[in-house]
Amino acid sequence: MKKIRLFKPWVGREELNNIKKVFSKSWIGYGPQVHKFEKKFSKFIGTKYAVAVNSGTAALHLALLSCNFPKNKKVLVPTITFSATAAAPLYCGLKPKFVDIRKEDLTIDFDDLKKKYTKDCVALICVHMGGHPSQMEKIRPWAKKKKLLLIEDSAESCGGIYKGKKIGTWSDISCFSFEEKKIITTGDGGMICLNDKKKYEKLKSLSFHGWNKDPWERHLMFFKKKKNFSKHWKYEIENLGFKYNMNDLTASMGLAQLSKINLFNQKRNLILKKYLIGIKNLNYIKPVFPYDTKNGSYWLFSIKTKFRDELINFLKEKKISTAVHFVPLPMNKLYKQFDNKSLKNTKDIWKEIVSLPFFPNLENKKINYIINCLKKFDESKSI
Ligand SMILES: Cc1ncc(COP(=O)(O)O)c(C=O)c1O
Repeated sequence: MKKIRLFKPWVGREELNNIKKVFSKSWIGYGPQVHKFEKKFSKFIGTKYAVAVNSGTAALHLALLSCNFPKNKKVLVPTITFSATAAAPLYCGLKPKFVDIRKEDLTIDFDDLKKKYTKDCVALICVHMGGHPSQMEKIRPWAKKKKLLLIEDSAESCGGIYKGKKIGTWSDISCFSFEEKKIITTGDGGMICLNDKKKYEKLKSLSFHGWNKDPWERHLMFFKKKKNFSKHWKYEIENLGFKYNMNDLTASMGLAQLSKINLFNQKRNLILKKYLIGIKNLNYIKPVFPYDTKNGSYWLFSIKTKFRDELINFLKEKKISTAVHFVPLPMNKLYKQFDNKSLKNTKDIWKEIVSLPFFPNLENKKINYIINCLKKFDESKSI
């Protein structure tokens, strides 16, 4: 058995064909494919608008920046997440305020959230950790009452449904990631989804140097306006923006991926079912999330065991890749200063979690092999 990877993007003919078409047009930068991908993606998620950017990190940065919050205000974020969730407030001169997570599913703990809230909090970023939805039905009305900007960090989920509503439609602004390991990929990329037109226009401008028109819009004006119109090139710099836009090459790949997203999620759910049945009777290895294999869009298959480091070494010998998602942010050098101590669940659970190989075309043979290895390890601990 060769080494089994943790993640593997599923890219092929459809992506190559789309990229070829972009090559044949020789328009590889900010162009029609970006606009098309934005339209199709917002329709798929169910928001009025979408802005394509070059990473999920850029999406989170701009989502917060678009609100112009006064410096040093606080943004509530969960402890266990990818670092970009807490970096986004810092990029904007704001401070992350860490909230404990639930042991049952690693998403933000609503009771701790209410405790951690203070009047200087301006926003809340909920993370659908590993693809598992945060408790949005409780969080959303509470955040509204507190007048907090509610952001969904949906980087680890795409196409999932929670309580009958698409993930990405529960908040004011939702941010997605298309980096190479995610549910769909453009190599690197991201998307900001929302319904507010004014904010959408600002986000679009912020994603491309703060201009009020993107290059493709200006190109179209050249051809569409009346003959004597000579100002198609004109733009106004309205904001201090960034070079965060997506380009036509990556957008064309995103369009191919989006056309296959339901298949990807179906395959992921099938693999999860196999894993869950396989480990059902184990004593020392349990799933981290209460997986919903019907409506879910999961990025991680994670298990918990009090023998985590031993298990990692055992699986390494069997050539099975593993990782830990994630070391809690307040335990990192940069974020220690923002720790406000009472993070009990985080400290208890993180030492037990480990992620196993999980991607849509993981073969049955490999899944069975992994399950058998887990069984062997569990058995060795039971005697
Ligand atoms: C929860 C979360 N937020 C944000 C990001 C950042 O996305 P990107 O890598 O596309 O910048 C990621 C993934 O990498 C993530 O897992």
